[in-house]
Amino acid sequence: MNRRNFLVKSAGGVGLLAAIGSVRSGFARELGKLKDQAALTDTVLRRAYMLDPGVTYFNHGSIGTMPHAVHSAHVAYLKICESNPWYYMWSEPWEAARKTAREKLAAFLNCDADEIAFTHNTTEGFNLLAAGLPLTKDDEVLYSTLNHSGASHCWTHYARLRGYKARQFSIVMDDIPEMSTTDLAALYTSQITANTRVLVIPHIDNIIGVNHPVAEIAAIARQKGVEFIAVDGAQAVGMIPVDLKELGVDFYAGSPHKWVQSPKGTGLMYIRKAVQEKLEPFWVTWGQQRWSGSARIFEDYGTRNLAEVLTLGDAVDFQSSLNVEHMTRYRNMLRKHFLARVKAHSQLVWKSPLAEANGSSLYGVEIKGTDSREVAAKMFKEHGYVFRPFHFENWNTIRLSLNAFNTSAEIDRFFELVDQYV
Ligand SMILES: Cc1ncc(COP(=O)(O)O)c(C=O)c1O
Repeated sequence: MNRRNFLVKSAGGVGLLAAIGSVRSGFARELGKLKDQAALTDTVLRRAYMLDPGVTYFNHGSIGTMPHAVHSAHVAYLKICESNPWYYMWSEPWEAARKTAREKLAAFLNCDADEIAFTHNTTEGFNLLAAGLPLTKDDEVLYSTLNHSGASHCWTHYARLRGYKARQFSIVMDDIPEMSTTDLAALYTSQITANTRVLVIPHIDNIIGVNHPVAEIAAIARQKGVEFIAVDGAQAVGMIPVDLKELGVDFYAGSPHKWVQSPKGTGLMYIRKAVQEKLEPFWVTWGQQRWSGSARIFEDYGTRNLAEVLTLGDAVDFQSSLNVEHMTRYRNMLRKHFLARVKAHSQLVWKSPLAEANGSSLYGVEIKGTDSREVAAKMFKEHGYVFRPFHFENWNTIRLSLNAFNTSAEIDRFFELVDQYV
């Protein structure tokens, strides 16, 4: 770089550093205001978001909604970027900000920063594995029918291309509500064979919200000789505290655009240090080797919208400032309320785990004598309630996924309205 270029680049860099610093302090002020509320009630929290007042949002499991403060930071980063895209993509301050975002995510999940790759979503994380793990013809990848398609299809596709085996076993969802933690672990571990080299587990599945005993399953699977344990954390990250060291798994894919409320298309992939060398990168391009020894080598190396990656760090800060344990307790209270109302209703059936420890903030309910798709469509059109129906083979439920700014009053109104359809 000649002297003039150097000066231009560093001058711009200093400007950017100041600009990022100013976004950060504005964001910190917003978080401070929230924290200053004597009691962070659901109504106060709701005002921190941009949701249409006519909408009652019970669908955080499909996609989250960004808080004002996080969204403003995102817009500010985008503006900085457009002021000089060249600096935005490749200058030092943005590199430093990307590093900070990675460190925040790592602290949030209790792992090392060089075990985190920024992806776009959970599906991308699982595709990396299906394409890049060292599997050969006798090796089996094992997963259940509770697995989301985003963590399943890649295995059948690459099994065909690469010659290994993908085996999906059936879980009868109707058996689950009464199951103990030990029963849930056995569902998976009893399926392991001498050929099982990869075991895939959802941390929290997307239909009935089983909070899987991941650490227990992983420990038994290791004893039985499974080499790689890959977890789908799409519904868990941000919904419950996740401690990757405690879980003891090799890979953990996440979609923070759901419960961490980050920009859409921001994902994460944890790749345990000890197994990084065994995985082949999917994205391959120039200069990549400088990231050897870090999960960063598995990231997409083409031009990337860094503003959203930086904002992911702010979204993590937002969630951390709310106190994840407190929010988890609050969401559990909502779940308990919903469950009590379902039990008291003759036409409604709770399809999710009954024990709080095995359930989550995502639950399935059958409304007898109705088609769940019609109920969901009408409740949205006529009353602005947003939730997801599941309708296949002998399954017919609505899925509720409530977050910390939802209220007991919204639940009570749901039950008044639902009576119109039963
Ligand atoms: C359990 C689970 N896994 C994976 C996915 C796929 O997520 P993404 O589309 O962000 O890759 C979802 C999406 O709803 C999910 O619920």
